[in-house]
Amino acid sequence: MTQDELKAMVARAALDHVPHGEVVGVGTGSTVNKFIDELGCIKDRIVGVVSSSDASTARLKALGISVFDCNEVGEIAVYIDGADEIDGQGHMIKGGGAALTREKIVAAQSRRFVCIADESKRVDKLGKFPLPVEVIPMAAQRIARQFAALGGQAALRAKDGQPVITDNGQHLLDVRGLSIDDPLAFESAVNQWPGVVTVGVFAHQKARVCLLGRPDGVRTLTFG
Ligand code: A5P
Repeated sequence: MTQDELKAMVARAALDHVPHGEVVGVGTGSTVNKFIDELGCIKDRIVGVVSSSDASTARLKALGISVFDCNEVGEIAVYIDGADEIDGQGHMIKGGGAALTREKIVAAQSRRFVCIADESKRVDKLGKFPLPVEVIPMAAQRIARQFAALGGQAALRAKDGQPVITDNGQHLLDVRGLSIDDPLAFESAVNQWPGVVTVGVFAHQKARVCLLGRPDGVRTLTFG
């Protein structure tokens, strides 16, 4: 089974976690794109969605799904999103698709985070995937030095020789070489650094459920 097929399988399985008559939080990425396509088939059963990126919003709207702003809705029943890494407690690294800030905002407004991922994302310890950090551009070099002091090598994310600009108009650092022993403490500490918009560790907004795609089927992991 290919990685793409595993993603399609968990995207389908996620429909069982979509409550009828509610607003659903929708993440970003290639796995979520498959979930959005599935959601299109049951769009009449939900009130609409809150989206975590311009890319997801465009895909949702193209399928005729109503997209609300976070400020237009109260608590969201469930947030469904992928991950770049997920550990045994439901802590994640996210942001490979540059949408980490809005993803964290929608996750924080949601009762339950359901992560959908193929089995390659399951790790024992976070940190092998380069950690995405959204930063205010003028602070990028100082933040990179702060990561260097922790043993990390930060690089500005660029495309075609130009810095990648997030949906919020900011830059991204990708930090290699970190070993994140205590994701909660790490997230809290980096959040305090001036100029950090969002760090891509999702420990305070961790997954409650992970639907993990494996060749023998979808494995449901639950976290306390
Ligand atoms: C988007 O910014 C990310 O947080 C994604 O959730 C993550 O990168 C997973 O993406 P894929 O589903 O494409 O692997």
